[in-house]
Amino acid sequence: MQKKLFIPGPVPVHPDILAAMATPMIGHRMKEYAELHGRVTAGLKKVIGTAGPVFLATSSAFGVMEGAIRNLVGTRCANFCNGAFSDKWHDVTRRCGKEADAIRFEWGTPVTPEAVDAALSTGRYDSMTMIHNETSTGVMSPLPEIADVMKKYPDVMFIVDTVSSMSALDIPVDQLGIDSCIFGVQKAFALPPGLTVFTASEKALKRAAGMEGRGYYFDYVEFAANDQKDNTPSTPCISQICAMDRQLERMFAEGLDVRWARHRELASHVREWVRARGFELFPEERYCSRTLTCVRNSRGIDLAWLKKKLGEAGFAFDDGYGKIKGQTFRIAHMGDMTGADLDGLFMAITTIMPELA
Ligand SMILES: Cc1ncc(COP(=O)(O)O)c(C=O)c1O
Repeated sequence: MQKKLFIPGPVPVHPDILAAMATPMIGHRMKEYAELHGRVTAGLKKVIGTAGPVFLATSSAFGVMEGAIRNLVGTRCANFCNGAFSDKWHDVTRRCGKEADAIRFEWGTPVTPEAVDAALSTGRYDSMTMIHNETSTGVMSPLPEIADVMKKYPDVMFIVDTVSSMSALDIPVDQLGIDSCIFGVQKAFALPPGLTVFTASEKALKRAAGMEGRGYYFDYVEFAANDQKDNTPSTPCISQICAMDRQLERMFAEGLDVRWARHRELASHVREWVRARGFELFPEERYCSRTLTCVRNSRGIDLAWLKKKLGEAGFAFDDGYGKIKGQTFRIAHMGDMTGADLDGLFMAITTIMPELA
C-alpha cells in the first residue's frame, strides 16, 4: 500500500517533481546540461545565501560528510555530537583515519556556543563539525550564536550539516561564515533522495588543495574545477537535478519568506497538538526543530502498535530513532506539507486511539 510519509525524510514528493524526473535524458557534457546546472546552482545560491560555489554530488549526504572530513580535516577535528547523526559523523571522521574528539551533549539538548568556545580555545583543533538540526532528537542548535563564536577562530574549518533544515528557514551560509555547508534533498527540499548539495569557502578550497588523501569522488578541488564549466567531475544524477530545477521554481513562486513562515506555522501546529494531548516535547521548546517534532512518549503508548495501525491506514509514522526508539516519536512537517496534511495524520491517530481526540 502507498503510505503518506510523515517520517523525517524522505518526505512526500509533489507530482510536478515526479514529472520533472521523467524529463528526457541529456548528456552531462552537452551544453543543455551546463545550462541546467548553471540555473540550478544559481537558484540554490539564492536559497542558501552564498556567492561562493555550490556543488552537486550524486550521493546521499553521508558521502559528502565523509568527503568534507577527507578534504578539510588536517591536524584534529572537534566533532560536536548531540544525537545519532552527529555521533555517526564522529565515527566517520575516525574511520577516515583522522584525529578527532567527540564533544558530547545529552540527547535532546543542543550544541551550545559556550561548549564550542571552550573546545576551540584549547587550540587543539583545525576543524569542527556540527549538525544544525539533529533529526534523531528534533533539536535545532543555535547556529547564529555558534557562528559568532566561530569568528574568533578563523583558522578552524566550520563544517555544518544542514541536511534536515536547509530551505525550511533562513540559513545564510556566507553571513554565518560556514566553510562547508552540506545538505541532502529528501528532507525540506522534498525531492527524491540521491543528490547532495555542498558549499566551499575560499578557505576550504585552499585547505583542500593542500590535503593529502582527499580521494577523487568527493574531491573539493575537482568539484571547483568542474564548476567553472557548470559541470561535475563524474556523471551526475541528471533526473534529480531536473527535479531540483522544478522545485526551485516552485520555491521562488511560493516566496522564500512565505516558505519559511509556513514551516514555522507547521511546527507550532504540531507542538500545540501534541501538548494538548498531554505529551511533552523531547527538547526544550526554544531548541525544537522547525522541520520535525520529537515528542516524549509521556503517556506511555505502544508506539510500535500505533505505527502498525497507522501503516494499515496508509500513514508512515516514526516511533523514535536509535536509543530513544519507543521513548519518543517524531512527526515531520517539512517540504511541501500543509496544515491540512498534518490534520489528516491527526485524524488518523485519533480514529485509532479515540482517547487522544
Ligand atoms: C541531520 C542528518 N544528517 C545526515 C543524515 C544522513 O543522510 P543520508 O542518509 O542522506 O546519508 C541524515 C539522515 O536522515 C540526517 O538527518
